Amino acid sequence: MKILLAYTSMTGRNEKIAKYLADYLESKGSKVTLQEMVDADVFEIVDYDALIVDTYTYNDGEVPEEAQDFYDDLKDIDLERTKFAVLGSSSKEHLHFGRAVDYFTMMLNSSNGEQVADSVKINQDPDEGDFKRVRILGDYVLASLK
Ligand SMILES: Cc1cc2nc3c(=O)[nH]c(=O)nc-3n(C[C@H](O)[C@H](O)[C@H](O)COP(=O)(O)O)c2cc1C
Repeated sequence: MKILLAYTSMTGRNEKIAKYLADYLESKGSKVTLQEMVDADVFEIVDYDALIVDTYTYNDGEVPEEAQDFYDDLKDIDLERTKFAVLGSSSKEHLHFGRAVDYFTMMLNSSNGEQVADSVKINQDPDEGDFKRVRILGDYVLASLK
């Protein structure tokens, strides 16, 4: 099974989470393409069995600037029920905790994706409980592909 894991990370937390999830999915037999969102092409998503988006949130609850093109391109595509899940570390110290996770979740649903796991928001550095939630998200993605 081919999974595209597109992530964006400024200070490294989401990069670490994305790599952890990629390793987990590969340990279960999937082929994962781990790509920074700035290099990812929305129009290639349909070549994959599933898409996972991992993002932080910036400014007043915004999608990070370097992820904006990817986000905007989603408005123009039919995902043809491609399976997807969204997660990300952001911070409860900000008013709009993890709002970019919500935006991506809504956008991917609007673009005719099939959400296969609840979105996961992580507060700053992931702890053991967070890594467990990340693995569960991965398990739901894998189960949807069987
Ligand atoms: C200027 C600035 C604005 C931020 N705004 C938000 C925000 O509105 N909502 C939120 O949940 N987190 C916000 N954050 C927190 C980041 O999303 C959080 O630190 C995240 O873990 C960074 O992930 P990264 O290490 O992958 O870059 C902000 C951080 C900075 C530096």
